[in-house]
Amino acid sequence: MRICMIGTGYVGLVTGCGLAEFGMKVTCVDKVAEKIEMLQRGELPIYEPGLKDLLEKNVKEGRLTFSTHISEAIRNSLVVFLAVGTPSDGEGGADLSYLFSAVDQIAENLDGYKVIAIKSTVPVGTARRVIERISEKVKGVAFDVVSNPEFLREGSAVEDFLHPDRVVIGTESDQAAAIMKDIYSPLYLIETPFVLTDNETAEMIKYASNTFLAAKISYINEVANICELVGADVHVVARAMGLDGRISRKFLHPGPGFGGSCFPKDTRALYHLAREKGYDPALIGSVIQVNENQKMRMVEKVRRRVGGDLKGKVIGVLGVSFKPNTDDVRESPAIFVIQKLLDAGASVQAFDPAALGEARKIFGETIRYAANAYDVAEGADALVLMTEWNQFRSLDLQELKKRMRAPVFVDTRNVYDAQKMARAGFEYEGVGR
Ligand SMILES: NC(=O)c1ccc[n+]([C@@H]2O[C@H](COP(=O)([O-])OP(=O)(O)OC[C@H]3O[C@@H](n4cnc5c(N)ncnc54)[C@H](O)[C@@H]3O)[C@@H](O)[C@H]2O)c1
Repeated sequence: MRICMIGTGYVGLVTGCGLAEFGMKVTCVDKVAEKIEMLQRGELPIYEPGLKDLLEKNVKEGRLTFSTHISEAIRNSLVVFLAVGTPSDGEGGADLSYLFSAVDQIAENLDGYKVIAIKSTVPVGTARRVIERISEKVKGVAFDVVSNPEFLREGSAVEDFLHPDRVVIGTESDQAAAIMKDIYSPLYLIETPFVLTDNETAEMIKYASNTFLAAKISYINEVANICELVGADVHVVARAMGLDGRISRKFLHPGPGFGGSCFPKDTRALYHLAREKGYDPALIGSVIQVNENQKMRMVEKVRRRVGGDLKGKVIGVLGVSFKPNTDDVRESPAIFVIQKLLDAGASVQAFDPAALGEARKIFGETIRYAANAYDVAEGADALVLMTEWNQFRSLDLQELKKRMRAPVFVDTRNVYDAQKMARAGFEYEGVGR
């Protein structure tokens, strides 16, 4: 079966390579020619463990190609996947301009029956709007629109795509459902649960899932903040909570607040959508507010530890990506913290194993890009660990201390042991203990 994947970002590229691995003939297209040229040379425009091997294997075996000829790729395919970005529109909703521009391209090239599968995360009701939009432009050609949300996590995207917890297929068309089941048939063999439903329910599943996970994070962050006030250790609390099967230990890690390309925007979009429909989603509103406060709490921790005034202070930041094993910095708490430190008059020097290039696009020459973790410590009044990359887990503490102006360590991920840090001579602060 021939497939066209529109958008070769974190989701489109992984999905394209993954579907080729499932035996489909996939053409990945993108409107950014440089990305396609890189991919044609076998280079990855993003950092994602395991992706290069999957790409090389499927290109070599002739199932995967990259092209900027979007029209041709659409015309040659039975199924066209949409994996374009749906960022925040600045007012809390989702910006669907990329999606609709790709939909228009599909409409222009609809030369026979096709399935249009929406992988992008889109507000409930979008599939319906896509159907209406195409129906207005094209007469007499059959097509179906399937909502097929993606649940992969950056950093383990390949593994997640090849071994998902579930596949959600939303459509009212039996023909389209059968085609989608065929595409994902290798997953039947590993007994992956399939959820077959309508478009609206499928769209809602994605938002409800992301918002629930975000809620768990805000919940444990709130518990952590209370722990700080009452002298309890949030790690022990979270571990004991997680031993209860009804709660589960996943997503109970206190930290600097959730970030990334999904949780913040999707939580806001669901909040926005509910309010548009006349319902005030108080709990979701709190999830968002707690997260905003949590990011600011990290800045306040640093401010307090350097004596109350950040002006003229040198702050070293370990980690810029929103989580380890990705170069994605979209809505990363580290980006927020760095900006606030700069606003308060501090000098920032940062290191990240993969994301300095992305950080440079945001901060230009306003911060110093360090060569490694020890270089971050050079002359610093405080170190802030923002992303728990493995490289930062067992740093030589004496070497760090030797290079710093003052041995202050704010650990927003609770990677280090407070007693060990105190013994090493650090003024140390974590989250919730
Ligand atoms: N990143 C994740 O972890 C993740 C996980 C699950 C779902 N999602 C959702 O998947 C969607 C894509 O996310 P992403 O992180 O891959 O985004 P991304 O920004 O990394 O990639 C989007 C790509 O689409 C391309 N594009 C935009 N308009 C186009 C057009 N008209 N024609 C061709 N290409 C076009 C862009 O150039 C870009 O390369 C979003 O809706 C997101 O919410 C993301």
